[in-house]
Amino acid sequence: MVALNSLVFIAVTLLGLTTAAPPAPDPDRVLDVRQTLLTSPPPTDAAFINTCLTKVNAIRAKYAAPALVWKAAIAQVALTKSNSCKVYHTGIYGENAYWMWFTPATTVPNFTTYTNKAFDAWVSAAEITAYKNGGLLSGRHFTQTVWKASKRIGCAWSTHRCMQNTNQEWFFTCNFDPRGNVKPYYASNVTTTPVARRHEDSGLVREETEYASEDPFVGGWGV
Ligand SMILES: *[C@@H]1O[C@H](CO)[C@@H](O)[C@H](O)[C@H]1NC(C)=O
Ligand SMILES: *[C@@H]1O[C@H](CO)[C@@H](O)[C@H](O)[C@H]1NC(C)=O
Repeated sequence: MVALNSLVFIAVTLLGLTTAAPPAPDPDRVLDVRQTLLTSPPPTDAAFINTCLTKVNAIRAKYAAPALVWKAAIAQVALTKSNSCKVYHTGIYGENAYWMWFTPATTVPNFTTYTNKAFDAWVSAAEITAYKNGGLLSGRHFTQTVWKASKRIGCAWSTHRCMQNTNQEWFFTCNFDPRGNVKPYYASNVTTTPVARRHEDSGLVREETEYASEDPFVGGWGV
């Protein structure tokens, strides 16, 4: 009798499962799916690492600084910073941050393009001019990027759009080791005149124009 009851129960349960109405759509679940589709490359992604190193080392070569190598542990620090969805400079490493937002917020960015734009923002003509004119307190993103004594770098995009922020920004952070911007070593660590002129047409002189002409892109700032 016990066995028969169990069998009936199982049959009813199976019948119930096969005839049940599909569950109502759950808005939070839809949001999760959208978030997953908009995930950035992880800082362990070989193509992403290559994009970062190619870009930063081209910039550094232009300003007579030796190439950096990638350090996975530093990239994890950068990931934690980016996923905090805000900018705060703390810790033992040098740090440059960048964030961007789109309309509509669900726009899928090309992260290769915007990784390059982040570095361009940090070494923009405005940054270099600010450093030349304002000395130690200006243009620090530029001086950190080209700081000769820095040897290692790790970068990361926030894993998702920062949904708690008004503009739902993406954050990008690079940490440098050893840190740059150390007084009184600016003069010996920072070359401000490009050693080669052939890269200049990819310089940040055109940043504002590029941003303005890209329809879904609303803004991006380096800090
Ligand atoms: C993203 O942009 C890079 C250049 O920045 C380009 O080579 C690549 O094809 C683009 N990827 C997609 C999916 O459009
Ligand atoms: C660069 O700065 C570092 C400190 O960050 C300092 O030790 C070094 O002497 C400076 N000069 C060069 C050429 O590296």
